[in-house]
Amino acid sequence: MTVFIIDCDPGHDDAVAILFGARHCQLIGITTVYGNSTVANTTRNALSICELAGLDIPVAMGLAEPLSATRISGEMVHGKTGMDGAELPPPRSKPIPQPGVDFLIEQADRHRGELVIVAVAPLSNVATALEREPGMKSWLKAISIMGGSTHIGNVTPSAEFNTFTDPEAAEIVFESGVPIHMVGLNVTTKVGIGRGDIKRLRGEGGKLAREIANALHFYLERQISIYGRTIAPMHDVCAWIPYTHTNLIDYQATRVSVETRGRYTRGMTVCDLRGLVTRETGSMAAAEPANAEVAIDVRGEAIIELVLDTLLEYP
Ligand code: RIB
Ligand code: CA
Repeated sequence: MTVFIIDCDPGHDDAVAILFGARHCQLIGITTVYGNSTVANTTRNALSICELAGLDIPVAMGLAEPLSATRISGEMVHGKTGMDGAELPPPRSKPIPQPGVDFLIEQADRHRGELVIVAVAPLSNVATALEREPGMKSWLKAISIMGGSTHIGNVTPSAEFNTFTDPEAAEIVFESGVPIHMVGLNVTTKVGIGRGDIKRLRGEGGKLAREIANALHFYLERQISIYGRTIAPMHDVCAWIPYTHTNLIDYQATRVSVETRGRYTRGMTVCDLRGLVTRETGSMAAAEPANAEVAIDVRGEAIIELVLDTLLEYP
């Protein structure tokens, strides 16, 4: 049996990932972290989304700051609340009293060999849990990360938001030895919601789908005005695909190294996709053993169809 916890910073695409995971997998918990907004906002948004969707899943509030970096915010993309565009009523429920990091440790211990963490935010919670309880490195079944990229960044030319926001945490996670799937911007930017999809959610959906449509309308307009895109990338839902629809993303086993010092490259995930077949490298850098299955291609439209169908199932 495999059980899942999503570590997230809702965040428009995180909200869709929560709703998708809850429908397709055994989602036993949600941990929140700063990122797209403050951890107070991301926690409130997670609670509101669960209430709107009728999901009875514990939400544990995580860290408010990176391990050592200066916190940056995703509010330029996600708005002041982290979920601008959605009229989410203040949640009636509260997060569980247990801090998010302790919740991750306890659940990994309780579900040894069965827990997958779907990490779709800065990796501060996951890294802190691994450091605080090294036993997690053998307890966890895997970590599926939305983060990094094989080439382009979004916050900088070379770094993606989740790894740029806390590079030290990302390095800890990628060096942990836990089996990792990494889905980076190189594929998630090909998985997007367009105006027609939003119209379909509004026309065919129930209350939840209509509310998500309002949120995604805001998110799409920001993607258009900032990046000149025509679609709103559903980055985070891609981290579920290795466990729900394995044929929709292609991976390559490779070494991922997180840059923590580069003036222009801090937070970059350096993916060794050279495919070296020899250890004789002379003056070249030797290929390090692979530490992740890195996404290199995706059937984006098929994933979006699944996302829309899933959102339309909710009342
Ligand atoms: O770069 C995309 C990632 O940053 C996604 O997880 C999005 O939610 C933001 O957190
Ligand atoms: Ca996220």
